[in-house]
Amino acid sequence: MKLTPEQIAQFDRDGYLFFPGHFTPEETRRMTDEVPRLYEVRAPWNVREKGRDAVRTNFAAHLVSPVFARLARHPRMLAPVEQLFGERLYMHQFKINGKMAFEGDVWQWHQDYGTWLNDDHMPTERAMNVAIFLDEVDETNGPLMFIPGSHKKGVLQAGHDLSTTSYPLWTLENEQVAALVERAGGRHGGIVIPKGPAGSMLMFHSCLVHASSSNLSPWNRVSVYLSLCAVSNHIRRFKRPEYIAHREFTPLEHLADDCLLSAPPVDTPWAAGMPASALETSSEDLDFSTLATADR
Ligand code: SIN
Ligand code: MN
Repeated sequence: MKLTPEQIAQFDRDGYLFFPGHFTPEETRRMTDEVPRLYEVRAPWNVREKGRDAVRTNFAAHLVSPVFARLARHPRMLAPVEQLFGERLYMHQFKINGKMAFEGDVWQWHQDYGTWLNDDHMPTERAMNVAIFLDEVDETNGPLMFIPGSHKKGVLQAGHDLSTTSYPLWTLENEQVAALVERAGGRHGGIVIPKGPAGSMLMFHSCLVHASSSNLSPWNRVSVYLSLCAVSNHIRRFKRPEYIAHREFTPLEHLADDCLLSAPPVDTPWAAGMPASALETSSEDLDFSTLATADR
């Protein structure tokens, strides 16, 4: 899959691209069927909604489940991001957000790169977010909202919100958000909501300002979020556990386009459990100068 010059220009202008129905219903079903097994586990990598049992986000399924290990290497996702960056990619973060019916909580306005810079010391914004809808998304089930063009502002001032939800996030002030929305067109396009069937894919810039409100509908809004980082832009410190911010910088290999259905063998190194080292953290920058260029 190759992006057209129009799509590249659109990504540059708006900060996102939307591909409705990018994965077929059968491919999507292979992924959806894996989720209950992952969500039922009581472990730190299943973050539950504040005061509730519903899973807010599941981390690192690509190291546990063969289906998601294949998705992580899917050419329909890797190729366009590699095209935009002109470089190979590693997986910085992999999550399956629940946003479950009646229980899914908000994601406050934020930029992802703010967190990756502040927490992980990722050098630049050369990392891409990809969202894949496992359920249909419409205005009722807490859809993702974007402020188009907000990525052009670079890294914005943010505060570390440790209390609004069960998951800490570097979030923006309301005044800042209001100004960005106004600049993007106010009531006329200042906030956009990509809506589409299960299997749709969104690619969005790591500085694009985004949020979602709670899900009071009777429909789940499960989505996979993959954060793909250019290998040369790997994080410099391991302040967060490895299941949140990955430390394996080897470029992701492409599998065949039909891999979700043909199911080739893939490595799932954490299938029998996460190594204890994944919980070790350090607030010091690490010295990567000895890492061979071929490994980067
Ligand atoms: C995120 O920003 O990482 C998740 C947002 C959402 O699931 O609505
Ligand atoms: Mn985000």
